[in-house]
Amino acid sequence: MTNQPKKIVVTGAAGNIAYSLLWRIANGDVYGPDQPVALSLLEIPQAVEATQGVAMELNDSAFPLVKSIDITDDATKAFDGANAAFLVGAQPRGKGMERSDLLAANGKIFGPQGKAINAGAADDIRVLVVGNPANTNALIARHSAPDVPAERFTAMMRLDHNRSLSQLAEKIGCGTEEIENVVVWGNHSSTQFPDITYATVDGKPVSELIDRDWYLNEFIPRVAKRGGEIIQVRGKSSAASAASAAVDHMHDWIQGTRKWVTSAFPSDGSYGIEEGLVFGQPVTAENGEFKLVEGLEISDFQRERIAAGVEELKAEREAVADLL
Ligand code: NAD
Ligand code: LMR
Repeated sequence: MTNQPKKIVVTGAAGNIAYSLLWRIANGDVYGPDQPVALSLLEIPQAVEATQGVAMELNDSAFPLVKSIDITDDATKAFDGANAAFLVGAQPRGKGMERSDLLAANGKIFGPQGKAINAGAADDIRVLVVGNPANTNALIARHSAPDVPAERFTAMMRLDHNRSLSQLAEKIGCGTEEIENVVVWGNHSSTQFPDITYATVDGKPVSELIDRDWYLNEFIPRVAKRGGEIIQVRGKSSAASAASAAVDHMHDWIQGTRKWVTSAFPSDGSYGIEEGLVFGQPVTAENGEFKLVEGLEISDFQRERIAAGVEELKAEREAVADLL
């Protein structure tokens, strides 16, 4: 192995999601089995000792690809020379809360991290914001990093995408990998719009394989509220499935995919989405870049659902105007 290690930052490294995520990254699941990695773990000062414990366990796992593990509470150090950043560190919601209730506590984390990325990250930096409310936190980070191309700031809606595939596969009785052309538009919130308009299984439209009543009244709300359901049943916010979706997102971004996946990234104004809002949209990926699936026909029903996400994200943007 002669490759230079890729520097991967994980914030919130002592938390629940990181405890799954770090092992997948260390195993080569993001950059592939031939690419060594240098892990940079960012935490708040009170959690640095616990992060040292996480690093001890990573060392004990003897991953051949892990060339170094650095722990810090200093964002400037953490992001210096970084090639990829998973911004996970943020408070999770509890029972009965909406993700947007976290904006006041979590929003202020992302400006300083955006600045540190702007100041020192490598030219190929790719950022995935996982910490909630993810879309608006990504907007804040991006605004603090004017020298980094806007499209390098993404928010995680891959978990919503994966949840959609899983619910559809169960209903139809097929494998998740057989389902094509699903997208989850909008915000990672209860206004998100899991859309099966273009979806197929083995060339057949999914709309012919399920009934519309189930789609509207069970599937859409179930996917949109799945995070809350997990909190109710598990007692804690989703963690392993979130880590898995984060790996899927970064893996596909870096290594490419011809299949549609969902990424939230700054809109270019397509599909009636206000330019700049970090919005879940259908993408493929090639040569290290996500590419918006263009030219889709949008019905009145879809337009209405997409507009709900736009309105909500505009209101969230308004609420954090002082951070932009
Ligand atoms: P957790 O409480 O277990 O861990 C969060 C960690 O972040 C803690 O160790 C904390 O010390 C650290 N942290 C807080 N502020 C920080 C900062 N400024 N810099 C670095 N680290 C910081 O939470 P978790 O279960 O790992 O979830 C993390 C976040 O991810 C939550 O906001 C949760 O809601 C969100 N989440 C998003 C999705 C998604 O699909 N987008 C899915 C699941 C969870
Ligand atoms: C999820 O969707 O599981 C996460 O965003 C956690 C949450 O608060 O729902």
